[in-house]
Amino acid sequence: MSLHRLLAMRVGVPRPDELAGFYAEVGLATDGDGRVTSPDGGTQVVIEEAPYRQLLGVELGAAHERDLDDIGGRLADLGVTIEGRSSSLTAVDPISHVRFRVTVAEPLAQAGSTAVVDNRPGATVRRNERASAVSQGPRPPRRLGHLVIGTPDIAATQRFLVDGLGCKVSDQADGIVSFLRCSTDHHNIGLVHSPVPILQHYSWECDDVDHVGHTATALLRADADRQTWGLGRHFAGSNFYWYLRDPSGAFMELFSDLDVIDDDDAWEAQRTPLALEHVANSWGPDIPMEFIAPHDLPELQAAWAAR
Ligand SMILES: [Fe+2]
Repeated sequence: MSLHRLLAMRVGVPRPDELAGFYAEVGLATDGDGRVTSPDGGTQVVIEEAPYRQLLGVELGAAHERDLDDIGGRLADLGVTIEGRSSSLTAVDPISHVRFRVTVAEPLAQAGSTAVVDNRPGATVRRNERASAVSQGPRPPRRLGHLVIGTPDIAATQRFLVDGLGCKVSDQADGIVSFLRCSTDHHNIGLVHSPVPILQHYSWECDDVDHVGHTATALLRADADRQTWGLGRHFAGSNFYWYLRDPSGAFMELFSDLDVIDDDDAWEAQRTPLALEHVANSWGPDIPMEFIAPHDLPELQAAWAAR
C-alpha cells in the first residue's frame, strides 16, 4: 500500500479555544495556537476558527515520492483537479469538500504498552495481587486512529478515496457505512450518509479497555452531559469504544483493540458482508439516535446552504 498512515485532521469550529481546552482535558498537548499533539502521532489536530463546525482537511502519509505521482495520475483519471503538487499532493473531494493532503512520511512507530494480565475461568495467571489496571487513571490517548465523514454521497466520496487516493475497503454495508484504511488499521476513514458534509466522529487509540474506561470516566465525572454511546464493542473493526460529545458537537471516540490488516488476501478470504445487525456493535448500549442525526444537524444544514 502506498498510503501507510493517517497523519492529522484540520477542523473548523466557531470557538477554537473551547475545543482546545477539551483536548487538554483529554490529556493531549495543546500549543495555544490550535495545534494538538498526541504522544505517538505528533501534531494530529489543527483547530481553526470557522462559522460552523466542519472538517476542513485530512493529511495522509505515503511511503515514497513516486506514490504521489501514482495518486495524481489516478485522481486525474477521475477528473479531480490536483490543487498542489510539490513535496505533497492536495486534492478536494468534490462531494464532502474535505481537502486531502498526501505527504511522504515516516512509518508510525509505537512503543508497546504493558501486557494486560487477565484472570479467566480455569486460567488463573494473576495470583495474590490486584489487577494493575485498578490503580491506573486517566491518561492521554496514544494517537488519532480514524475519523468518520458524513457525506451526501457515500459511493462518490468512496471513489475519490479508494480509486483516487488509494485507500482500501475493509468492511461496508452499502449505502449505510464504509470502513476504509490507509494503513494496517481496520479503518482510518469511515463514511456514513449525511444530508450535508459533517465530521461525524473521530477516534483516539488507547492502550486497552481500562485506558478507555479510566479516561472516559474522568471526562464524564467533569461533565456527565458529554455521554453519547458506550462502553461497547464494535463488530466492524472489533474495537472497544466509548463516545463522548466534544464542545463543538462532534463525537470523540476512545478505542482499543482494533483489527489489524497486514495481509489483504487473508482479510478478504474471511470477510463476510456486514449485515444490518453488525453495523452498530457486537455488544453494548443501543445506538442513540443522536449518533445518526446529531442535535446540531439542522443548524449545519442551514449553514451549508448559506455558505
Ligand atoms: Fe469509530
